[in-house]
Amino acid sequence: MPTTESVLQHYSPGLEGVLAGETAICQVDEGGAGLRYRGYAVGELAEKATFEEVAYLLLFGKLPTRKKLDDFAAELAARSVLPDRMVAFLATLPRDAHPMDILRTAVSWLGLLDSDNLHRSREANLRMSIRLLAQIPLVIATAHRLAMGAEMVSWQPARSFAENLLWYLTGLRADKDEEAKAMARVLDVSLILYAEHEFNASTFSARVTASTLTDLYSAITSAIGTLKGPLHGGANEAVAEMFISIGSSERAEAWVTAALAEKRRIMGFGHRVLKHGDVRSDIIQREAERLSDLCGDRRWYDIALVVDRVMRREKGLAPNLDFYTAVAYLLMGIPRALYTPVFVCSRIAGWCAHVIEQQKHNRLIRPRALYKGPAPEVYVGLDDRR
Ligand SMILES: CC(C)(COP(=O)(O)OP(=O)(O)OC[C@H]1O[C@@H](n2cnc3c(N)ncnc32)[C@H](O)[C@@H]1OP(=O)(O)O)[C@@H](O)C(=O)NCCC(=O)NCCS
Repeated sequence: MPTTESVLQHYSPGLEGVLAGETAICQVDEGGAGLRYRGYAVGELAEKATFEEVAYLLLFGKLPTRKKLDDFAAELAARSVLPDRMVAFLATLPRDAHPMDILRTAVSWLGLLDSDNLHRSREANLRMSIRLLAQIPLVIATAHRLAMGAEMVSWQPARSFAENLLWYLTGLRADKDEEAKAMARVLDVSLILYAEHEFNASTFSARVTASTLTDLYSAITSAIGTLKGPLHGGANEAVAEMFISIGSSERAEAWVTAALAEKRRIMGFGHRVLKHGDVRSDIIQREAERLSDLCGDRRWYDIALVVDRVMRREKGLAPNLDFYTAVAYLLMGIPRALYTPVFVCSRIAGWCAHVIEQQKHNRLIRPRALYKGPAPEVYVGLDDRR
């Protein structure tokens, strides 16, 4: 049992460099594969696997056989409907609400309708995880289409997760043209890369919540609220806004230099853990470049290249996953406010795997704080106070 003195010696603001638990889900492998999900290099998964396989791997602990993957896809398709009451609820929300706020509220609401929410077993948690994986894209698409007055969509079992998601968010059909097919594959790669990242802030908040032995929906609601911030998942949306504000590659260097002179943070750069670059950024950069060439539109990619060069030169900072992902999502025409919700569609697999792992080997997460407040005071009665 650590003493108060020994605890105080180990204070690290922002828990930087602190080991806060054990996991078998994800390994940060700097100098090696960069990142491994359950032992598999993320680069190999991005090249050879689909998001469905990766979600299965994270949730169940090993890669599926073809039969298991088919069953998993069928299960996702069967769960890809929203209760009528949920659709009616989404229709009551303010039209200008941010999709991340809608999603956080909707996930909490879905928990009210799920009878598994009373149970903490691995089986119940897995059933709830699959329901969330299937329903979150529908919540996002339904809320967006309600706000736009657009036609509703339903899940097409013949299409992959990424193909359905692309269709939900943009109306593009991967079976109709080559560009949309290539976009669906890049979206699939980005979902694989976004799926898991050890004890990042949102996963950690999910684990803190789960460690009280509360329900999975409460843990995921905490995680969504945590992901929303611009220092975490909200960065991809902010990067796209920056590219639009820069406007052209000719203006990019001056724009970044001026922003740095004003001590502003450039979104999509830096990382709390990956101080020597992010292998996921290299992967999505290649995909973004290929897609830009295929679409005959290098405008966003060329801006990104200049910003990348200036940031490495001026700050010694490399891009993170959000940076070139924004190039790809701009090309796909995904509405900007939906970028972070797309991140949720993927990271839900990692979050749920962590909730299950936390509750299997649970210890309440309750750290200490370094007190910086007033010295001891003596209570003065109400009438004697001045
Ligand atoms: C992710 C992030 C919060 C990590 O921060 P951190 O580990 O706390 O790093 P620090 O805030 O201590 O930054 C270290 C130095 O790099 C600078 N820095 C870090 N990220 C920067 C950025 N994106 N733009 C400009 N400068 C940055 C800091 O100003 C600081 O410089 P200083 O020592 O001269 O003050 C930070 O890099 C950031 O804000 N990035 C932008 C948001 C983003 O892309 N988030 C997605 C993360 S995956």
